[in-house]
Parts: sequence; C-alpha cells; structure tokens
Amino acid sequence: MTQRPSLALIGPGRVGCAIGKRLHDAGYRWRALVGRQQETLRDAAAFIGIDPQRATTDLSRTIEADVILLAVQDDAVIALAHELASLGLKKTTTLVHFSGLLPASVMDTDPGAPTLSIHPLLSFADRATALVQLEGCPCAIESENAACTALGHKLVDAIGGRGFILPATAKTLYHLAASVASNFQITLAACARNLMTHCGFDQQQATELLRPLQQATAANLAHLSAEEALTGPIARGDVSTVAHHLLALATEVPDMLDLYRVLATHTLTLAQADQRLSAADAEALNTLLKQRPPDPQH
Ligand SMILES: NC(=O)c1ccc[n+]([C@@H]2O[C@H](COP(=O)([O-])OP(=O)(O)OC[C@H]3O[C@@H](n4cnc5c(N)ncnc54)[C@H](OP(=O)(O)O)[C@@H]3O)[C@@H](O)[C@H]2O)c1
Repeated sequence: MTQRPSLALIGPGRVGCAIGKRLHDAGYRWRALVGRQQETLRDAAAFIGIDPQRATTDLSRTIEADVILLAVQDDAVIALAHELASLGLKKTTTLVHFSGLLPASVMDTDPGAPTLSIHPLLSFADRATALVQLEGCPCAIESENAACTALGHKLVDAIGGRGFILPATAKTLYHLAASVASNFQITLAACARNLMTHCGFDQQQATELLRPLQQATAANLAHLSAEEALTGPIARGDVSTVAHHLLALATEVPDMLDLYRVLATHTLTLAQADQRLSAADAEALNTLLKQRPPDPQH
C-alpha cells in the first residue's frame, strides 16, 4: 500500500477546521497548520487534533508537505500560491484550494506545483455541524492534471464526501447555482420572518412560527422534485389570493414587491411545467404579475 501524502493546512477557518479534522481522523499526517493569529491557531489545532507544536504563523513550515491545503478566503488564494512558490515548493508538492468559483489553475506559478480544487457543496455555517454534514456531501473535483484528480478523489473519500468531476469552464455557473440554493434560501427565510413581524409577532416568535413550515418544505424537497414539492396559491391557480398578496405588499411592505413579482413569475413557470394549472389561470396570473403595482389608495 502506498503511503498517504503528508499535509499542511493554511487557514484555520470553518472549512479548514472541518476538512482538517476529517483528514486527521482518516489518518493523514500533518507537517503544519498555518494561520495569522495565535489564539485561532491554538483553538483550531485542538479541534482538528493536530499537535499544537505544528501550529504556526510561519508559512515556510508548510514547504516540506506533499499536499498544501489553502483553506483561505477566495481573495487570498492567488497571493498565497505566489508566496508559497517564492519560498521554493518541492516539484512533487500539490496545492489544493476549496473555492467553488476559482479554477485550480489560479494557483499555477512558474516554477510551481500541480494544482487541484476541491469544493464541498455544503454551507459551513459552523465547523462542528459541517464536520457531521460532510458525510456523503457532494464535492466537486477540478484539475488539469490527472494525478491531481486522482488525489482529489482520495482526499474526498477520506473526508467522507462523494467526489464528482467539474470542468473549470463550468465553475462560475456551478458556484452561482450553489449560492442561489444556499444563500438565497437564507435571504428568503429572513424575508418571510420580516413579513411575519408585520402581523405583530416579534422576530423570535416569527422565526419559531415559520421554522416547522421551512423544515417540512425542505423535507419534501429531499424526496420530491421542485415541480412536485410546489404548493400554494400559484400552483393552485388562486388568482385572487395572489392579487391580495400584491395589494398587501404595496400597502405594507413595498420594498418586497419587486422580489415577490420576480419569484412569483418563476413559480408560475414551475407550476406550468407540472401541468397542474389551467391555461386560463396561468394567463390570469401572468397578466396580474405584469400589471403595474396596485394603488393601495383605491
Ligand atoms: N464557508 C463555506 O460555506 C464554504 C463552502 C465551500 C467552500 N468554501 C471555500 O473554503 C475557503 C475558506 O472559506 P471559509 O468559509 O473557511 O473562510 P474563513 O472561515 O473566513 O476562514 C479562512 C481562514 O483563513 C485564514 N487566512 C486568510 N489568509 C491567510 C493567510 N495569508 N495565511 C494564513 N491564514 C490565512 C483566516 O485567518 P484570519 O481569521 O486571520 O482572517 C481564516 O482563519 C474559501 O475558498 C471558500 O470559498 C467555503
């Protein structure tokens, strides 16, 4: 059996800690853990299980590693790759970043090391939760180098993920899809909470009242397609309900009117795709959503 490559981790943040702990538990050996603040480093080393002696602010301590993991903010990746190259990377060292947007090749330098990108399709809101959620998580593997791609599969297996190949040219749209799926879900949850506070509930009550509905919807999406999981007035063709929504928005929360119109228009397309709406209801909803904002005075 070939020996596992030794690792160095730069960036003791959410992704670095969760992935680092998975790799540590899978038996990988560490050369160094590099950060910028001693306290963060101590905390991360304890979380991952790395010997605190290997936690350092000195980047040159990564150079002996076979694989260097750059778990830093996207904006810091390129400069860091150049800094590593200037320290004299071994020809056999592989650089890995975790950005869903940037291609691995942004870490290419001359002379430099082979580069690989691994992107877990997961929201690392906190490292302990993400550590658990990494089990079975789809992870995009992207590299122009076949040996790096093979290494990517090994690392993804070790972190408990499910690797899939993503071409570099698809990364922007891929990352956009991930952002819409995750970030906008949160934005919409906050919008719903704010609407609920207009009924007289405080933010905490609004959050608690809406949570079961949000969880049930997520559970439906876990086994149904978006078309099948869709319920509500647009899917039912309740035109007057949508008219009431628009009027209430124009009256009470006008800054959400445009958002509602855009989302309702996409929801209408979804409902039509499932062929649950009559042509007449679809036409009536379409006309209603295109009308200028209703005047709350009339
Ligand atoms: N968060 C997610 O949901 C998620 C999901 C998938 C992929 N990713 C990707 O994972 C990567 C890391 O994201 P994250 O959410 O883990 O970020 P994060 O929590 O902000 O952690 C980044 C860490 O890198 C450290 N750092 C930055 N520049 C450094 C440098 N020059 N030397 C040493 N340490 C440095 C930061 O230290 P300071 O505290 O001193 O700034 C911080 O500890 C990004 O490429 C991101 O796109 C994130």
